[in-house]
Amino acid sequence: MHFETDAIHAGQEPDPTTGAVTVPIHATSTYAQRAPGEHSGYEYSRTGNPTRQALETTLAVLEGAGDGGAVATASGMAATALVGYLLRPGDRVVLPNDAYGGTFRFFSRVLSEQGVEWSAVDMTNLDAIEQSIETTTRLLWIETPTNPLLRVVDLAAIIERAHQHGARVAVDNTFATPYLQRPFEYGADLVVHSTTKYLGGHSDVVGGAVVARNPELFERLQFLQNSVGPIAGPFDAWLTLRGVKTLALRMERHCDNAEALAAFLDDHAGVDSVIYPGLASHQQHALASRQMARFGGMISLRVAGGRDAAHRVASRTRVFTLAESLGGVESLIEVPAAMTHLSVAGTSLGVPEDLIRLSVGIEHADDLVKDLEQALAT
Ligand SMILES: Cc1ncc(COP(=O)(O)O)c(C=O)c1O
Repeated sequence: MHFETDAIHAGQEPDPTTGAVTVPIHATSTYAQRAPGEHSGYEYSRTGNPTRQALETTLAVLEGAGDGGAVATASGMAATALVGYLLRPGDRVVLPNDAYGGTFRFFSRVLSEQGVEWSAVDMTNLDAIEQSIETTTRLLWIETPTNPLLRVVDLAAIIERAHQHGARVAVDNTFATPYLQRPFEYGADLVVHSTTKYLGGHSDVVGGAVVARNPELFERLQFLQNSVGPIAGPFDAWLTLRGVKTLALRMERHCDNAEALAAFLDDHAGVDSVIYPGLASHQQHALASRQMARFGGMISLRVAGGRDAAHRVASRTRVFTLAESLGGVESLIEVPAAMTHLSVAGTSLGVPEDLIRLSVGIEHADDLVKDLEQALAT
């Protein structure tokens, strides 16, 4: 089946009891058993819930997990934490030096206390990656495009190197979504999502997922999901599932609008630089063209006038809402150094304080252009 069809039907057959065409919200903690141990496949909702399972099946199919599967979690960070449980004291993880701030915080300030070591490298530099891999390195964590600098990293090349050294690779596919980029096609072992973003798509639910292609690794994740307990609740799973149905349509529009805005900003005298993988000026534009179906809905830019100008522009928009997060139908604007990336301010991440990040929504492109035009006017 095609992506658009799977997004609506995979794991979402009409309800066998009532014929309901949407997966019901199974708001139950437990399930009646016919005799001790004799049940219909569900015994307790931390272990399994039909609404959550429908979402997990859909996500696994959309990512192309084959014989593996997905576990849906309470947040993107819960998904990251489950991956963390695959590591043992003394293991090392290599992170991108511009990883999402929460991911960086989890590995550097939480898992490090459990004896898991880490280092951070510029993942656009293959030599630096090679040098950062040690005999105890068990995991490489990739984000592409990165947040908020929108660097694009070479999945095939990095995954091949990691595997040569016996390390697994987890790819945070939140920014691209499986509609634009499918890391398993490049050999990734795990795909991680904050479903809070494009997959949910309506800024009304926080959630996450880990997808594995290898059946044993998937089984281990299910074990961890049940043992640790950071599950997506049935209402949240249902909302996410509803969002996923329109992912293809939304992503096309996010990309259309972002392309129009990137072109507009690139020509604007008040803008110093625009970072968008779809622009020929982007450092990894050729790689992005190969690796992604389109270039996504995120744009970063630096305005003339530095930090104060960036704060002024971000406070002046009327259609773009000044807020953290991304990937919803509505356009958002933020200043990462003062908002989402405050926790990594002053680190090697190097988010410029005059950087503005746009999450371009699916409103009419003309309204978005006009809004930025008036916000940039001096
Ligand atoms: C790329 C990326 N990964 C993971 C997360 C964490 O997800 P959540 O906020 O759902 O816990 C975020 C959140 O912004 C993110 O942007």
